[in-house]
Amino acid sequence: MADLIGQLQSLAATARDAVAGAADERAIEELRVRFLGKKGELSAVLRGMGALAAEERPRVGEVANRVRDEVEALLAAARARLEDRKLEAELSGPPIDVTLPGRRLLPRGHRHPLTRAADEITAIFSRLGYEVASGPEIELDWYNFEALNIPADHPARDMQDTFYVEEGTLGPGARRGSVLLRTHTSPVQIRTMKRLGRPPVRVICPGRVYRSDYDQTHSPMFHQVEGLCVDEGITFADLKGTLAAFARAYFGPATRTRFRPSYFPFTEPSAEVDVSCSICGGSGQKSGGRCGTCKGTGWLEVLGAGLVHPRVLENGGIDPTRSTGFAFGMGVERLAMLKYGIDDLRLFFENDLRFLEQF
Ligand code: FA5
Ligand code: MG
Repeated sequence: MADLIGQLQSLAATARDAVAGAADERAIEELRVRFLGKKGELSAVLRGMGALAAEERPRVGEVANRVRDEVEALLAAARARLEDRKLEAELSGPPIDVTLPGRRLLPRGHRHPLTRAADEITAIFSRLGYEVASGPEIELDWYNFEALNIPADHPARDMQDTFYVEEGTLGPGARRGSVLLRTHTSPVQIRTMKRLGRPPVRVICPGRVYRSDYDQTHSPMFHQVEGLCVDEGITFADLKGTLAAFARAYFGPATRTRFRPSYFPFTEPSAEVDVSCSICGGSGQKSGGRCGTCKGTGWLEVLGAGLVHPRVLENGGIDPTRSTGFAFGMGVERLAMLKYGIDDLRLFFENDLRFLEQF
């Protein structure tokens, strides 16, 4: 027994000297393996314990544990010392100039084509004197439908397949169907009129909207830009002139537009505006077949518009006997598709770099 304890004590003494002389992390690791590893010196000594009497073992075990703890502590202290020395050297060495330009120009990336299209649309209307406004994507039913003259159970609600927020997630007091993902940017019309309180109102509102839709020209999340102009004496001619000016600025002089009579509960009269399809050049035919983008019609619907319904002005806190206005809502994906000749809207959301890097 005395023999084994002697071996353990000399192991500890050797370890103290060896660790004190270790110059780097590799040397420390080698010492760990040499003393504490499975085939190391401590294990070798402990193998001799088999020959001891049962009552001697605990005494040797105790010394062995103490030696192992000491060697572990020595190694840890040596590692910490090295770290400190490294940090010290870095801090006292020559400073690193983080403002130096890189040796190679790294690719910088750019805006997503949809962001670019929305920015361009917004910029055109800014030049026409419009201000940018915004509203929440999680919206109250009142702003999205009710205040826009679309009462509950009105068939016009079916025109927009809606994602509702479950009452359970809203807490006590929430009415069923009272909160939803906005289906269009038109609720910003009401919010803006209430905020400004009186005409003139001239705002443009870009943002995300949500519908339960999915195909080559419809996506469940898409972008719209709303426009609202309210003042005394605004007429349908102002609407036509404004949208024609926009189409010329955005698509260039060669693009044709057409107004089709339409229906929206929040405008009267209402129109849908189409732009000639740039994928097939307006012919409706593509490589011998029907153009899938415009479904063979040669036209692509890009926006809805009309004169603001008097009841909507009233809901926004504006006197409809004194003021009139026009509003429009355009689909940003459609406008980007037409401008860049993209035939499938879903490409915008797949994040394939081969697609995105073309813009
Ligand atoms: C509306 O959303 C009305 N709020 C527009 C409006 C505003 C009318 C102000 C009058 C006054 P509509 O559902 O037609 O209308 O959508 C407007 C445009 O959004 C469409 O012309 C189309 O370009 C685009 N759009 C509609 N659904 C989708 C979809 N699922 N994916 C991509 N774009 C869509
Ligand atoms: Mg429509």
